[in-house]
Amino acid sequence: MSQLLREHAESQFADELAALQKADTRERPTNWALSPWAVVTYLMGGTLDNGFAVSAKYIGNRRLMETAVSTLATDRALLLFGVPGTAKSWVSEHLAAAISGDSTMLIQGTAGTSEEQLRYGWNYAQLLSKGPSKDALVPSPLMRAMEQGKTARVEELTRIPADVQDTLITILSEKSLPIPELGMETQAVRGFNVIATANNRDKGINELSSALKRRFNTVVLPTPATEEEEVAIVTKRVGEMGRALQLPGEPPALKEVRRVVQIFRELRNGQTEDGKTKLKASSGTLSTAEAISVINSGMALAGHFGDGVLRARDIAASLVGAIVKDPVQDAVVWREYQETVMKERGDWKDLYRACREFE
Ligand SMILES: Nc1ncnc2c1ncn2[C@@H]1O[C@H](COP(=O)(O)OP(=O)(O)OP(=O)(O)O)[C@@H](O)[C@H]1O
Ligand SMILES: [Mg+2]
Repeated sequence: MSQLLREHAESQFADELAALQKADTRERPTNWALSPWAVVTYLMGGTLDNGFAVSAKYIGNRRLMETAVSTLATDRALLLFGVPGTAKSWVSEHLAAAISGDSTMLIQGTAGTSEEQLRYGWNYAQLLSKGPSKDALVPSPLMRAMEQGKTARVEELTRIPADVQDTLITILSEKSLPIPELGMETQAVRGFNVIATANNRDKGINELSSALKRRFNTVVLPTPATEEEEVAIVTKRVGEMGRALQLPGEPPALKEVRRVVQIFRELRNGQTEDGKTKLKASSGTLSTAEAISVINSGMALAGHFGDGVLRARDIAASLVGAIVKDPVQDAVVWREYQETVMKERGDWKDLYRACREFE
């Protein structure tokens, strides 16, 4: 097992990518490692003609992945948009890994992201000793992706200040990055494209300018359509992460995963799954990603301090933290949910009691 806490997708799934490359006879866009068909197979999973099983990375609508991949084969960039925890970053990493064999040309957007971080900076020691030269220039990941014809990733695009975001306009429309200090430019090599992610929920986001919006095709990643789908996502990711984090104990029982997912969905939707009881909605996002963390923390508790079997009391501990983000408002929501829903469900008594202990 690797010593790394988290491997990049292209190393973690190197065997799958290699098998796909070998089996892939379809046409590949210039400088793509795989054909669009093989990229979608890598994302959605499937069995190759020779029997090799490719695992699913994205669980959901195949058409969304097909749209994303075909966009990247055109001259338009891809914007993955949606509420938190809908696998935007996850899909972006896997797309870059499959298309370019490299998911590391990444710019993490923050309120402090500067134009230099998108374009290039300078190695000041070199700059002072030799003056402005190509040697003294420190290319951004975006610039390197242009030079190498690869996929660049911009995470949380809408966190970047609006004027800095607009640096992308020239790059995306002219496919060129001017370097006025050297009187030259970097022109993008075929295969270059950009995947940006953004969500519309978090505080402190800047709207995309319409000029920039027009350079992107937007694919909205939805929250899982059905409870079945969400349970499948959580079960799969919890299993994978439990192995990667070397958590002791048994994989969680489906029953516990199902309960956590159901609680999250009901609070998110503001009503019980059967539609009979209306609920106050919580202020948190209660995303699939958070459901995964709740089960993971529960497994760690059960493994290290329990008998290795995930039980209601292990879940209750992190459930409260995930749901009660606002200590006043959400506490009311959570209390109401416990009393009107959990308490009334015959086989949820253990969870109800465990949650009450955390008040
Ligand atoms: N439909 C899905 N298929 C597979 N995994 C999913 C799906 N939805 C969520 N996940 C899992 O949820 C986790 C979080 O996803 P990710 O960090 O990509 O979310 P995000 O949309 O980028 O959220 P944020 O807006 O907070 O950045 C990942 O581990 C991912 O595997
Ligand atoms: Mg993200």
